[in-house]
Amino acid sequence: MLKKIALIGGGNIGGVLAQELFHRKLAGTVALVDVKGPDVAKGKCLDIAEGTPIIGSDVRYVAGKEYDVIKDADLVVNTAGVPRTVRPDGTFPSREELLATNLQITDAVAAAIKQYCPDATVISIANPLDAIVFRLYQKLNPPKHKLMGMAGALDSARYRYFVAQAAGVSVDNVEAMVLGGHGDDMVPIRSCCRIAGMPVEKFVDEKTLAAIEARTRKAGGEIVGLIGVSAFWSPAIAAIEMVEAIVYDKKKIIPSCVLLEGEYGVKGLFVGVPVVLGRNGVEKIIEIELNEAEKAAFAKSVEAVKKTADEVLAAK
Ligand code: LAC
Repeated sequence: MLKKIALIGGGNIGGVLAQELFHRKLAGTVALVDVKGPDVAKGKCLDIAEGTPIIGSDVRYVAGKEYDVIKDADLVVNTAGVPRTVRPDGTFPSREELLATNLQITDAVAAAIKQYCPDATVISIANPLDAIVFRLYQKLNPPKHKLMGMAGALDSARYRYFVAQAAGVSVDNVEAMVLGGHGDDMVPIRSCCRIAGMPVEKFVDEKTLAAIEARTRKAGGEIVGLIGVSAFWSPAIAAIEMVEAIVYDKKKIIPSCVLLEGEYGVKGLFVGVPVVLGRNGVEKIIEIELNEAEKAAFAKSVEAVKKTADEVLAAK
């Protein structure tokens, strides 16, 4: 258990995160901040707290519209930003199209972290994922092991779920990783996909795997099209996987968006790669052998990440 975990943003993802932190008792105190009124953060925490006698949780909370509630947090999970939302004509924006709006919000978030908990480890979830983490890095300039984005945990879970369904086996048996940026060019790594330690190709044919990988790349959009707004339960639970790895010093290998300084041939960008997560945050970046097709797909995804990072650099 950490002393204090702060959640910035009390929307759909922030709300589930708060529930899970109380339920799993991951911190002595949960902080939730949301600028929306009358006081969404306080309301959501009070709602959860009133149920704690039933789940036997003595987790405390501090919540409100002002950022000072995050003071002295050990870990911050940032979800602040607008999600993708279906327009009246049925279309919806790409994650990248959220950049202009979410950059401004991110700058306020960065200023608050700097003021109230400059030493916190930060996991960011807001979209466009890789660009927002890049912006936080620009503004906070933290040690690189203390800042990461959650995307690979979610994208890999989606890939695993689809493979488990196609193979007719438990999700417990499926291991898989999705690397690169958190956009439609993300890269499901088939060569790392195993079912109970066996190559996935033993269970699922080539055509089905190709379809699963295409679906994985667009899985976020599939949910937006169905609900009308971005997914929230699976993103929140994927971030909880990262939080637990840090809280319990698990040394768990989870694909995460981290600063690359030459690994995978990339310098100065935040991109999704497998890392060891433990008490110190990103404890190690793991370089895996990709096959030629995966290398090309990874390079394409990095190009997309770079394009949005360049827009961040161009923004004041
Ligand atoms: C998704 C959003 C949250 O992939 O990026 O569902």
